[in-house]
Parts: sequence; C-alpha cells; structure tokens
Amino acid sequence: MRKQIAAANWKMNLTYQQAERLLDEILQEKIALGPDQQVLFAVPFPYLVLAKSEVDEVHGYAIAAQNAYSKVNGAYTGEVSVEMLQSIGIKYCILGHSERREYFNESNEQLARKVELCLEYGIQPLFCCGEALAIREAGTENAYVQRQIEESLFQLSDEQVRQVIIAYEPIWAIGTGKTASAQQAQEMHAHIRSVLAGKWGKETADAVPILYGGSVKAGNAAELFASPDVDGGLVGGAALVAQDFVQIIKALK
Ligand code: G3P
Repeated sequence: MRKQIAAANWKMNLTYQQAERLLDEILQEKIALGPDQQVLFAVPFPYLVLAKSEVDEVHGYAIAAQNAYSKVNGAYTGEVSVEMLQSIGIKYCILGHSERREYFNESNEQLARKVELCLEYGIQPLFCCGEALAIREAGTENAYVQRQIEESLFQLSDEQVRQVIIAYEPIWAIGTGKTASAQQAQEMHAHIRSVLAGKWGKETADAVPILYGGSVKAGNAAELFASPDVDGGLVGGAALVAQDFVQIIKALK
C-alpha cells in the first residue's frame, strides 16, 4: 500500500513559542501510526531545527520545509537552498504551493528545476498543483492540472517520480472554508493518477501518494481520505489547532 500522509502546512503562522506548544500538544497524544501512515509538519525555516529535534524519535513523524530555491548556492540574498535543508537532515519539502505560484511568480519550469534539485539532495518534494475557480468554472481543470504535472515532473525517471508526493489543492478551496466534495477530489486524483500512468505506467502511478488540500477539517477528513485515490491531506488552517490536526491524523486510512 502506498503511504497515507497527514501533512500540516503552517505557512507563515505561529511564533516560535506557539510553534513549540502546538507540536508538543500534538505529540503528547502519542497517536499510534500504522506502518504505511506518516505525519509531516511543514514549518517556517527558523523552526526547522527545533521541530526536527522534537519529532526525530517519534516513529512516522517528520519535518518538511515549505520551499527551497532553484539554485544550489551563491549570491541569492534571503533564499534557502536544498543543500542547506539536506545539511540539517530535512527529508521533505513543499514545492509549488499556489501561494508561491501567485505571490512569487513561480512557474512550472522553475518548479521542474526545484523538483530535480530536491531529488538530487535526497529530499522528497510535496509537489502542489491545482486550478483557480475560473478554470474550474470553464471546465478545463483536468487539462490545467495535467499541464502543471507535465511541465514540472515529466522530465523525471521512473525511480525519481516514485519519490514525489503530489498534493492537489484547488485554489478555490484554500482557506475559503469551501472544500471540494469527496467526489470532486476523487475525480481529480484519479485523473492525476492516469496522467502518471500514461507517462510511467500503472505500477509507478499506483505508488505515488496524492494528497488533497483545501479546507480539510477535523469534520471532513475521514470522508475525503476514504476515496481510493486520496492518500491523505495537506492541511493549512486546521493544522494550527492541535485537537483538529489530531483528528485529521486519526482519519488517515
Ligand atoms: O497547503 C495547505 C493549504 O493551502 C490548504 O489550506 O487552510 O484551506 O487548509 P487550508
């Protein structure tokens, strides 16, 4: 069975003290994870080392970065490289979140480079894709998401793509309280898997976890995660409340 993942994306939220408390409250629950279940916390850069030290001994828990730059090193003031993440033992990194695409103009081509760099440095990308409301209303969401995947992932080998985690996050459902229905999520996840199968074959497509993101809550996680092609969630707002995220972890298949 492919991995089932509850990933928290803290975005640019929480002070250091609040972050420490939130992590402690969640870890105190000592939720026993199954062998194929995983919990990730994508935390702001300044908290990576602290967060990693807190989860290091806890089976099935790991820390992710929320972004990394597309160059190895050099004169890029303010940026953080994949090599830096590797040097502190980070094994996961979100790439291509719609907020990065919108506010920082990240393109599919730039993301292709970031994905390659992460894989080169032994970091599994959580590659985000998803359409805006206008695209869904026009009925072209499948082609749009397919293009994001083609332009950022299709250069990868079979072995490399098996290290990628995909997160489908319809932009119209992010932070809006408006969740895709379980059926909408399943349909898009099945489409994404068929795109992967078309390029790398069914066996490889079946090995890639595809998470749903967009107003996942304690109350809807179980229904969303129950769909056959939904392998967990990438969670924003609800991951900032310990008891809510605990319920979301418990909703994993
Ligand atoms: O990456 C998670 C995300 O963008 C969804 O945010 O607040 O709708 O769960 P939220």
